[in-house]
Amino acid sequence: MKFINEINLENKKVFIRADLNVPLDSDRKITDDNRIRQFLPTLRWVIEKGGKAIIASHLGRPADKPEAAFSLKPVAERLEKLLQMPVKVAPDCIGSEVKRLVEELQSGGVLLLENLRFHAAEKTNELAFSRELASYCDVFINDAFATAHRAHASIVGVPAHVSEKGAGLLVKKELEYFDKALVNPKSPLCVILGGAKVSTKLNAMINIASKADKLIIGGAMANTFLAAQGIQMGRSFYEAELFPRVLHLLATLARRDCKVYLPVDFIVGPSPSAKGLGRAVPVQEVPADMMALDIGPATSILYKEALHNAETIIWNGPMGAFENEDYAQGTTDMIGHVAGAHGLTIAGGGDTDAAIHQMELAHKFDFISTGGGAFLALLEGKSLPGFEALK
Ligand code: 3PG
Repeated sequence: MKFINEINLENKKVFIRADLNVPLDSDRKITDDNRIRQFLPTLRWVIEKGGKAIIASHLGRPADKPEAAFSLKPVAERLEKLLQMPVKVAPDCIGSEVKRLVEELQSGGVLLLENLRFHAAEKTNELAFSRELASYCDVFINDAFATAHRAHASIVGVPAHVSEKGAGLLVKKELEYFDKALVNPKSPLCVILGGAKVSTKLNAMINIASKADKLIIGGAMANTFLAAQGIQMGRSFYEAELFPRVLHLLATLARRDCKVYLPVDFIVGPSPSAKGLGRAVPVQEVPADMMALDIGPATSILYKEALHNAETIIWNGPMGAFENEDYAQGTTDMIGHVAGAHGLTIAGGGDTDAAIHQMELAHKFDFISTGGGAFLALLEGKSLPGFEALK
């Protein structure tokens, strides 16, 4: 796979597939522009090398037709501000007007196409749609790390019709960190997994089992591990259908000498949204009418101790229902433990990223991946369609 720095861009029409899928509030204001900022080095590279930048991205999940709420206009405004130069927005991502705007583009100019997902053909990877997008460019660059796990037209279809193609600087950085963290990690490697469902992370755990020295489990997924071992979890969320697979995984981890850390206490409450009713209990004493909603203070100390000698830490998924501040302490503590660790620290996943930025501790991490599903797919050991298409 080539990277952008190995490709001549001068005077070329450069189609850059970026992931500018940023969160917006109800007034369509961007609440976290991390993905836009992380894309800037690639965009600046194209501008400085005299390329004509044609940026394409999706935003959210519109219903396969234009919807104002999913327009990329707020992203263009933020790009203009960060770049301090004009960024034109095309009214669509295909069609005669787009063709005209592409032809008008000067070297060093920037054009942002409208949301790719306004067309069903993007997700279904239709040939005619890919061909039309490909017809706008001389060079294809994929810098959409966070969408590399989707076999969509702009990810796998377009590069099939462009001979000069490669990955952008964000993808390069993501893959370099991933290599340091999981492919060639300094040991001990500690992997922290949280979030609600084991089902979404079981494959990642199976892959990690052969690589990690320690696996630290938090969030509601810990409930499934404990309940599978016969612990009474009251009204807590867990996935009973996964008990056999979870027990098998624990046996595999033990055989591979990967130490597993599970909560020893919880903050319990009547529901994830209840206020002022949380209290700490040992795992053996979860009341029948309560839910485990965060790791408890003793668990937090245990996890800090487990991370003490880590040379590499990978973290994905919160420790509890952190959207409610009554159940956020476990995640807050974990951010502090990882931020204070001396080894290489990498975090990924939308919720983890949001919690770290909320605490303004992002600068204490070596790297925060822009990927959610893509980060998880790499943890599962999968090869991603977006990168395969560049080979
Ligand atoms: C993400 O936010 O994980 C990526 O932008 C991909 O979005 P999707 O899950 O809607 O495909």
